[in-house]
Amino acid sequence: MRLDGKTTFVTGAGQGIGEATALRFAEEGAHVVATDVNTETVGETAETIEQAGGSAEAHELDVTDGDRFHELVDEVASERGLDVVVNNAGIGHPPQWIEDTDESVLDYVLDVNVRGVWNGCHAALPHMKEQGSGAIVNVASLAAHFGLPRQAVYSLTKGAVLNFTRAVSAESGPMGVRANAVCPGFVTTDLGEQFFATRSDPEAAREQMEQRYDLRRLGEAEEIADCILFLASDESSWVTGHGLVVDGGFSTS
Ligand code: NAI
Repeated sequence: MRLDGKTTFVTGAGQGIGEATALRFAEEGAHVVATDVNTETVGETAETIEQAGGSAEAHELDVTDGDRFHELVDEVASERGLDVVVNNAGIGHPPQWIEDTDESVLDYVLDVNVRGVWNGCHAALPHMKEQGSGAIVNVASLAAHFGLPRQAVYSLTKGAVLNFTRAVSAESGPMGVRANAVCPGFVTTDLGEQFFATRSDPEAAREQMEQRYDLRRLGEAEEIADCILFLASDESSWVTGHGLVVDGGFSTS
């Protein structure tokens, strides 16, 4: 088992990529601290893990709340140590031209996607540096590499997450702490579906999108979770400061 006895902390674990990651970590022997702003769904994630014989606890956490983030991470670290943090929670926004985008959208998406990841690293690093080990995985996006039209705010935040991850690696690598990002292409979660829902013909838009991928299909949350597992486990012990593109060949052809 790749995470046997490890304490792992996952944000946005109520559904989608975060949920898939929490379940995958538990299968690999980790204790999972599953957190989400949605108490109901994150409770279900922890329940699913426990029912399958795994070990988990669920907590309400809005990643934009730095004080609460610190409090919870401190609690977990003092009780069990802290081996892995996955800063996964993130949001999108409706397609919008830059000049039509209200500042409140900018503030909100920045707050969740960037400040949320900042808060997670800010809270975890003192513990990981002190113990001389730890792995942080931040969930960026293919949008960190492409400037997507009418997704400028999202692109801005994910570019920030990727470059921040490199800075975390540069600062904490000497103390034995690794920090990496995953950059997924289109994944069929609620967030992905929201995108198609804004199109006049969602089914046609989906088919068109699928054709842009070498593998002619969109990604599944579990496929991203497997890559997060790799970056969280000792299998990637000499990988840090890296943004792992997971996109079914979208960006290479
Ligand atoms: P999702 O919408 O299915 O799940 C996101 C989870 O985050 C939900 O459980 C939600 O309650 C939680 N969340 C939202 N705001 C929060 C907050 N302030 N504090 C704590 N939790 C919060 O989305 P999905 O697709 O699983 O996305 C996860 C991550 O993957 C995000 O960072 C997203 O940007 C990224 N991503 C997703 C892609 C996709 O196509 N679905 C592609 C590339 C990146």
